[in-house]
Amino acid sequence: MKIGISQSAPSTIETPLLVALVCDSSAKGDKTPAPELLSSDEALRSAAAPLIAASDLSGKFAEAVWDLSPAGLAAKRILYLGGGKTDKLTLTELRQLAGIASRAAKSKQISSLTMILPEKLEIAGGAQAATEGLVTGDFDVDTYRSDRKDAHVAEVTLAVPQKTDNGAVFQSIAEGAILAESQNLTRSLALEPSNRMTPTILAEQARAACEEAGVQCEVYGPDKLRELKMGAFLSVAQGSAEEPRLVVMRYEPKDAPASPVLGLVGKGITFDSGGISIKPSDGMEKMKYDMCGAATMVGAMRAIGMLKPNVRVLGILCCTENMPGGKAQKPGDVQIAMNGKSIEVLNTDAEGRLVLADGLCYARQLGATHLVDAATLTGAVVVGLGYHNVGVFSNDDAFAGKLLQSAKRSGERMWQLPVEPEYFDHIRSDIADIKNTGGRWGGAITAAMFLKEFVEDLPWIHLDIAGTAWLEENKAWMPKGPSGVGVRTLVDLARHLTDSAAKSK
Ligand code: BES
Ligand code: MN
Ligand code: ZN
Repeated sequence: MKIGISQSAPSTIETPLLVALVCDSSAKGDKTPAPELLSSDEALRSAAAPLIAASDLSGKFAEAVWDLSPAGLAAKRILYLGGGKTDKLTLTELRQLAGIASRAAKSKQISSLTMILPEKLEIAGGAQAATEGLVTGDFDVDTYRSDRKDAHVAEVTLAVPQKTDNGAVFQSIAEGAILAESQNLTRSLALEPSNRMTPTILAEQARAACEEAGVQCEVYGPDKLRELKMGAFLSVAQGSAEEPRLVVMRYEPKDAPASPVLGLVGKGITFDSGGISIKPSDGMEKMKYDMCGAATMVGAMRAIGMLKPNVRVLGILCCTENMPGGKAQKPGDVQIAMNGKSIEVLNTDAEGRLVLADGLCYARQLGATHLVDAATLTGAVVVGLGYHNVGVFSNDDAFAGKLLQSAKRSGERMWQLPVEPEYFDHIRSDIADIKNTGGRWGGAITAAMFLKEFVEDLPWIHLDIAGTAWLEENKAWMPKGPSGVGVRTLVDLARHLTDSAAKSK
C-alpha cells in the first residue's frame, strides 16, 4: 500500500473515494445526536449538511453512509464514517475507523482512497494509527477460495491540515506500515492450516522474515534439542511424525548496551490434538492456531529489525505438533526439563507449558535479562477474560506495568491476573518437582505458575492469547480469523524497555 499525504482542502482532492469522519458531539445523556463533521472544509460541510439535516448521519461509531455523487467536490464518492462521541475519539477509534475505510473500499473494488485525519488528534500519531488500521484492514482470510476477489487498497492519501510538519508525518506513516505489515505477517502464518504450516515450514517462514528484516536466525532440529537436554519440549514432539524445530532469532544492534536483553519466547504448536489426552473432535480444527504465540514473535522480531530500536532482542520459537502417535508420551510420564526440574505429565494436552519451559530456560541461557512469552495456553483464560483481553501474568510489577503501558499506546487490550504463591500448591506433584496441570480452578493462573518455575529470578511476563489470537466474529475493521494481537505491544515494549519509569508515558 502506497500512503502519501496532502495538505490541500479535502474538497479539492481528486480521488475515487473520500473518507470523512462524523462524530456525535451531543452532551452526555442527550437522546438526540449532534453530528459534527471533523473537517473545516466549507464545500465538504455543505455536501454533508443535507444528510445531517435529514438525520441520515448521526455520528454513531462505525456508521457508514455513502454519497455516490457528491456535488461541488473533486472526489468521485464520499464515505462518511461515524466516529462515535466526539470526546471519546482516540487513536484506538481512529485505527478502527481506518480499518473500516479499507474494508469498505475493498468491498466495492475501489483501490485508491483519501482519508481526512481529524485535526483534534495529534496529526503524526493519527497518521500512524490510520496507517495501521488501513493496512491491517486490507488483510483477507480467503486464501484458498477460488472465488476470492483479491481486491486491495493500493493507494492512500491522508488529508492533513496545512500547518503540518510533513517529515514527522511521513516517519509515522512508515512506522505504522512496518507495524501493520508485521501484524499481517503474524496473521498470515496463523491462518495456514496445520498441513501447510508444519514446524519445519513455520521455522522456514521465521527465517525468511528475519532475512527480510536483517535479524539473525538459526533453526535447530531434534538432535540439538537432545543435546540441550530439552526433555520437556521433546516429550511433546515425540508423538508426531513431523520433526520439531527450535528457532533462535537475534537482533543485536552494534551500539546497543550489553544489557538489557529482551527475550521473546513463543508457543508454536502447529497442531494441538491434545496428544493421548485427546481433545473432543468438536472444535479440534481450531487447534491449528495453537502456534500463534510463535507467529506473534516472528511478527514482532520483523518489526523490531526494521524499526531498529537500540536494544538487544532475542526471539525463541518452540515449534512442534502435539499428536497421539505410538511413540507419544502418556499421562503419568515424568520428563526432565532443560534446567533439571522433573515434571509429572498428568495431561498431555497441557503441552504448551512443556515446550515453553525449555524455551524460557534457553532464552535465559542465551543471555536474556527480561522475558516475555506469548502462548495460546489455556481455555481457562477464555473463561476468565472472554475474547476481549489478553491475560497478563508476571513476577515483576514494574515490568508488567511497562507492558500494560505499551498495550495502551498500541491499542491492544490486556488485563493482569495474579501470580501468587498459593496457586503453586495446585501444581505440586507427589513423585516429581511439579505436575503439568493444576486442576479446574484458576487454570490460567496455575499454568502461569508452572512457567514461572523456569524463569528463575528474571523479570518475566506471560501473555495468554488463547482468547484473543483468533477473532470468532467479524468486526467492521477486521474479518474473523487471526488477529495478530500482541505484535504492536511487544514492539512498543522493546522500544521503551530502557526508558526510566518517569520517562515512559
Ligand atoms: N492450546 C490449548 C489451549 C487453547 C484453548 C487455545 C482454546 C486456544 C483456544 C492448550 O494446549 C490446552 O489444551 N490447554 C488445556 C490445559 C488443561 C489440559 C490443563 C485447557 O485449557 O483445557
Ligand atoms: Mn493442549
Ligand atoms: Zn495447546
